[in-house]
Amino acid sequence: MGWHARFRLARGQTIDDVIAKLPAIESSLGTYRGAVRVSPTPDDRADQFELRVLDKDPHADAIAWSGPSVASITQPIDFGPFEDAAPARVLFLRRHGLFGGVSGSGKSGALNVLMGNLSACRDVVIWAIDLKKGMELAPWAPCIDRLADAVVILEARADMLATAGRRVWEPTPDMPALIIIIDEYAELADDAPDATADADSIGRRGRAVAVTLIAATQRPTQKAMGQGALRSQMDVRICFRVRERKDVDLILGQGMLTAGWHAHTLNAPGKFMISAPEHDTARRAQGQDAHSEASSGPRGLQGPHRGAQEPQRQADAPDG
Ligand SMILES: Nc1ncnc2c1ncn2[C@@H]1O[C@H](COP(=O)(O)OP(=O)(O)O)[C@@H](O)[C@H]1O
Ligand SMILES: [Mg+2]
Repeated sequence: MGWHARFRLARGQTIDDVIAKLPAIESSLGTYRGAVRVSPTPDDRADQFELRVLDKDPHADAIAWSGPSVASITQPIDFGPFEDAAPARVLFLRRHGLFGGVSGSGKSGALNVLMGNLSACRDVVIWAIDLKKGMELAPWAPCIDRLADAVVILEARADMLATAGRRVWEPTPDMPALIIIIDEYAELADDAPDATADADSIGRRGRAVAVTLIAATQRPTQKAMGQGALRSQMDVRICFRVRERKDVDLILGQGMLTAGWHAHTLNAPGKFMISAPEHDTARRAQGQDAHSEASSGPRGLQGPHRGAQEPQRQADAPDG
């Protein structure tokens, strides 16, 4: 699978200098584009780095979804392996999420894997809205009202917590986490600007009460995110292939491109990089493919819209 070695940096050089030279390193090693990985040493030495050169793309083949990896929102969800085969697992409990990347890069596929996992959690209610076909087709209007409903639930839960003298909501089957999933989020800002104010409220106040929002959009510009501060509230960022390098910072946050999150070099749908409290180094991962023929799990899981029409369970009443 190639080779790796530890290098010492010249005095005053940093790993960022090496990352900035990756294309030149790949060229002088006579390897293919995207074959070289640079990472900090396990002991985090500032004056050393590890270089890994792959002779074959470990993510050359699609990976079928293996079925739900969790039974509770308190467990991290597995989206698929990193290149060293370690699973890209991430916790969504009391966290908002943002999935970005060009059209066709695998955002909706990953939302499907997410929903397949959340469906297996006894302590979760999912409200899913797919705005792909645009909102002019009206059927989504009632779903948009759900965002206002979610704010009502959020406020009632906050009151309950205050009364009980507790700081955070621990989801249980009776008092589940409410996870609102919105695909093609930019349509919301375009066509239902009022709803984005509710989304902002959820962003600012939803975590403690386990009312969280997961949005997928191609480019989460201020305009696409509804002008508010929602993007800054997103704790889990998953970046699929981007067309322009600067979109890495748009999706993952300022400075991530220079820190080595080269999502513009991801070369197939479903490949992603993840930034989250438990993932702070740039590594490539490959998403499981929920559409693959070999996938196990609920075949009825056809798209995010299903949950929008039939929430899997009745929404919890504000009183629990
Ligand atoms: N994890 C994956 N592995 C392999 N192929 C994938 C994966 N995810 C998506 N694809 C392929 O890419 C296509 C586009 O994916 P999709 O999730 O619809 O992208 P997006 O929502 O970003 O536009 C899918 O139809 C599928 O063929
Ligand atoms: Mg999509």
